[in-house]
Amino acid sequence: MCGIIGYIGPKSVVPVILDGLKRLEYRGYDSAGIAVVDRGEIRVRRVKGKVKDLEDSLREEPLQGTYGLGHTRWATHGRPSEENAHPHKDCSGRLVIVHNGIIENYLALKQKLRAEGHTFKTETDTEVIVHLLEKYYRGSLEEAMRAAIGEIEGAFAVAALAADEPDRIVAAKQGPPIVVGLGDGEFLISSDINAILAHTPNVVFLEDGEMAILDRSGARFTDFHGVPKAKTVERVSWSPLMMEKRGFKHFMLKEIFEQPEVVRDTLLGRMSLDTGRVMLDEIGIPEATLRRVRKAVIIACGTSYHAGLVGKYLMESLAGIPVDVEYASEFRYRDFILDPDTLVIVVSQSGETADTLAALRAAKDRCAAVLAVTNARSSSIAREAYGVLYTNAGPEIGVAATKTFTAQMTALALIALYLAQVQERMDHAALLEFIQEFQRIPYKMEKILGRAKAVEDLAARFVSFSHFLFLGRWVNFPVALEGALKLKEISYIHAEAYPGGEMKHGPIALIDEKMPTLAIVPEDRVYDKMLSNISEIKARNGYVIAVASDDDARIRERVDAVIAVPAAPPLLMPFLTAVPLQLFAYYIAAKRGADVDQPRNLAKSVTVE
Ligand code: G6P
Repeated sequence: MCGIIGYIGPKSVVPVILDGLKRLEYRGYDSAGIAVVDRGEIRVRRVKGKVKDLEDSLREEPLQGTYGLGHTRWATHGRPSEENAHPHKDCSGRLVIVHNGIIENYLALKQKLRAEGHTFKTETDTEVIVHLLEKYYRGSLEEAMRAAIGEIEGAFAVAALAADEPDRIVAAKQGPPIVVGLGDGEFLISSDINAILAHTPNVVFLEDGEMAILDRSGARFTDFHGVPKAKTVERVSWSPLMMEKRGFKHFMLKEIFEQPEVVRDTLLGRMSLDTGRVMLDEIGIPEATLRRVRKAVIIACGTSYHAGLVGKYLMESLAGIPVDVEYASEFRYRDFILDPDTLVIVVSQSGETADTLAALRAAKDRCAAVLAVTNARSSSIAREAYGVLYTNAGPEIGVAATKTFTAQMTALALIALYLAQVQERMDHAALLEFIQEFQRIPYKMEKILGRAKAVEDLAARFVSFSHFLFLGRWVNFPVALEGALKLKEISYIHAEAYPGGEMKHGPIALIDEKMPTLAIVPEDRVYDKMLSNISEIKARNGYVIAVASDDDARIRERVDAVIAVPAAPPLLMPFLTAVPLQLFAYYIAAKRGADVDQPRNLAKSVTVE
């Protein structure tokens, strides 16, 4: 939610900030703005719309400077408008800030500041921070920031400039991420490393309760009381090239096509064909603790929740451990019961989702084994969990998650196998066979991707439909949920997913020739049941597209169209059935001319509750 970037160095700041904002745009894209300091004056430009609109405005009327701040917004308080776009100035126009997060006590502060004579120009919660800075500013932005954040409640990643204190950027973090880039004579702050990598691979991750003070000679770090903090500089291995589209029309399509590689990378070094063993010592939770685990609870949001559901079926079948899967936003407010032998797994691509982070914190008080599955190194969730298993998906730019979903399923499958191994729930031959089949999955995915044109042609026939039903059962039910979510997110078509067996209890009333069904029907233990569910739809004039295995001859007589995928052991089929559903959603959205990588109203990283 919202992206912030700051730069100080020898380069002209506007192109640096615009480039950074484009890379951060996945975090929010309803308005954007920039502040630069030019000959002692703060100059601000803001637009309603995307970073491109800001770029156009800056082309018409350029701004100059070598340090400044930028922001791309996902509105929380105050509608998207130029006025509400960041950066925000104080009454004097000598101070300016950008903010990511929510200030919970902003109304009380606003009243107080108004009574003290401050004039507010926006509907945002953010504006109180800059007026607090104004109130406390006595020549030191660092001191004023400390005093201001002492009064605010809520979540903030905030960065500020003062016209009267040249060549300085001050940032503070309580909640949303801030990364500091330490380049050669140039220094940056950003909500995400991807906006920094073009300049330097050397970064420092701020923790909650920390501030960074950047000037032309470097960066210093303190806590909120001004006590200096020594921080570790980390070197990021992602290359800037990973953030390019590489000839694909959209990031999402590129990321769908990266999935075979992502599965390989996430499995790499974690299971051995020679020994038939899974090696997950890296997770940092002792084997002895895992041996005692009697139950698992997987907590996540959005697509990560769907990956968690797949994880449940895998863990129950492979490790014989009962698993609950919970929406983080629900779990955290429940009087939940966790006994000490429960393994809690939080799944989050970004590692920053506010509800998932809060659920993790709540669970930590009650359990010894709290494990994070995340794609973001040094993210809040990675740092705060007792153990981490990283998904090696590389940066995902498309707002709709695809390759990170597959990577999360891979990681959860590894955890399921590891639990089965440490608890001796699977004999060696069965484990080895599963590992062999798992290794074949990337090749099978490549086959599916090689047939993308067939999915595109099929999708072309459904571009103008308004409703879809997705059906799956057992381990493919979560895939149906994910398929429907992808279609909703990027094409704005209404889609719902049901377990095939539940259809007769309600959704069947919706079936007619205007509501096609995508049915996931691999040859598994629920195959015959799914065939019956399909017959029920066909009997009501419903159009059925089946995702079925290559060698399934029977299905072709029963449905209107088939998307064929290679066969695999039933528990591994979600890795294969998910791919055509992603492609189907993608091609429909692209053909409708939708903004595939930045769908309306969404943001990739949701740091509000
Ligand atoms: C947002 C994104 C989704 C994502 C969800 C959870 O809604 O648009 O793609 O699945 O957040 O994000 P996380 O980073 O915790 O996996």
